[in-house]
Amino acid sequence: MNLEIIDHSASKRIQSIKVKEKELEKLIFPFNKHSIQSLEYKPFSRFSLAKSIDDVFDGNLSKTLNKILKDRNTGVAIIEPDIKNSKFDKDFLVKLSTGLAYLVGLPNFDLMTDKYYARFYVKHSDSSDSYLRKAYRNLDLHTDGTFVKEKTDWLLMTKMEETNVKGGESVLLHLDDWEHCEELSSDPVGKQNFVWSSPKSKNVGYKVEHPVFSKDGSGKPTISYIDQFPEPKNMEQGLFLQKLSDALEESKNKIIFPLTPGSTIFSNNYFWLHGRKPFKKNINLSRELLRIRGVFF
Ligand SMILES: [Fe+2]
Repeated sequence: MNLEIIDHSASKRIQSIKVKEKELEKLIFPFNKHSIQSLEYKPFSRFSLAKSIDDVFDGNLSKTLNKILKDRNTGVAIIEPDIKNSKFDKDFLVKLSTGLAYLVGLPNFDLMTDKYYARFYVKHSDSSDSYLRKAYRNLDLHTDGTFVKEKTDWLLMTKMEETNVKGGESVLLHLDDWEHCEELSSDPVGKQNFVWSSPKSKNVGYKVEHPVFSKDGSGKPTISYIDQFPEPKNMEQGLFLQKLSDALEESKNKIIFPLTPGSTIFSNNYFWLHGRKPFKKNINLSRELLRIRGVFF
C-alpha cells in the first residue's frame, strides 16, 4: 500500500496519514479538471474528484478513512500533505478536503456560508457572536451540529494557512478516555431532551431538541454537546450542563497538539469532542480554516 499510516505522536487513537509530495503531484492533473466554482455548483463533480484521489492510492484511502472514522478505538484521522511546494495552493487544499469528505459521505449544507463547506478566519479582533473566531478565548470541548436538524456523523477541519500564530493548539478528547464519562452519561438528566438554539451568524432559523447523551448501536455512550447553545429550562438542566462543562475542561486526558498548516483533522462526531487553546496575543495573527461536516454513506 502506498499510504503511510502511523499512530499520531500525541495518541494511538489518532491515525496520522502522511501524503508525500510525489502523490500530491499525481493529483494536480485530475484537480485541474475542476474549478472551485464547478465543485460548488455541481455536486457530481465532487464524487469524480474524490475518485481521482482514491485512484492515486489504489482505492486504499477510502477504505482506510472509513475504517478509522467508524472504529470506536480510533475515530480520528489526521491527513498531513507535504505541501511545502507553493504549487499546492489554497484551491488545491479545498479540492483535497472536498475529495477526502466525499470518500466517506455526504456533506451537510453549511448554513453559515450557503455552501457544502465553510472557510473562515480567526484574527486578532472579532465582532462575531460565538467563540469560534475569538482568538484569545479557549474554544471549549464540543461536538458539531448540536443545533441543526441534520445528523452530523463526522467533521473535517483543514488548516488552510496561518501567520503570526503562537498557541491555538488543537484539543481533542475521546469519550472513552474521559474520567467522568460513566458518571455523567448515566445521569438521567443527560438523557432528557434539551432545547438547542444558535446565534444569528449561524443562519439557523429554528431550535431543535435532543439529549446530551445517547447510545450507539453497541450500547456505548455518544455525546452531542456545545456550551453556548443549549437553553436549560430549569435548575436541574442548568446545573447538569455546568457540571458537564467543568468535567470536560478539567479532564487530564485531553490530547493537545499543534496542527501543521495544510493538515486536516477528520473525526467521528459521536465519541470525539474537539476544541482549541487560546492564541498568544498578536495584532497580526491570522489563521484560515475550512470545515465540512456530514453523514456517512
Ligand atoms: Fe466545532
